Amino acid sequence: MERTFLMIKPDGVQRGLISNIIGRFETKGFTLVGLKFMAVSRELAEKHYDVHRERPFFAGLVDFITSGPVVAMVWEGEGVIASARKIIGATKPLEAEPGTIRGDLGVTVGRNIIHGSDAPETAQAEIALWFTDSELVSWEPAA
Ligand code: CMP
Repeated sequence: MERTFLMIKPDGVQRGLISNIIGRFETKGFTLVGLKFMAVSRELAEKHYDVHRERPFFAGLVDFITSGPVVAMVWEGEGVIASARKIIGATKPLEAEPGTIRGDLGVTVGRNIIHGSDAPETAQAEIALWFTDSELVSWEPAA
């Protein structure tokens, strides 16, 4: 079954949005298989955002992600990678549709509340970066 990596960023935690955000994926019908409330090291942040290393906002992005605790999650379900991206909304919150997390709750790109894997390859790599196999729980929700 398909899995994706989602992370509530420090702004989402600080603004008290954890239950609002997790609730959207739960009520949609996806299955939570991994959950960690954690501080992020610079090493982990730099690995996670390695693809953006040459971008001008890279240092600020790493500073921000390491500035406070995050909620790292793995969710499972049919089509969960693309569906989660839809639920999250466009990267720039002002361009995100109402009804999406960023469209409802955010304003600026540097404080866009949540990260979600953008493709199967990145989902696999990000899950392996943030979670060990033993931290993931396979279970079948009641039908
Ligand atoms: P995310 O989905 O986590 O993936 C890369 C992140 O880079 C993105 O969300 C934004 O938070 C951040 N980002 C993208 N563009 C900019 C920008 N112009 N300034 C600051 N941060 C940015």
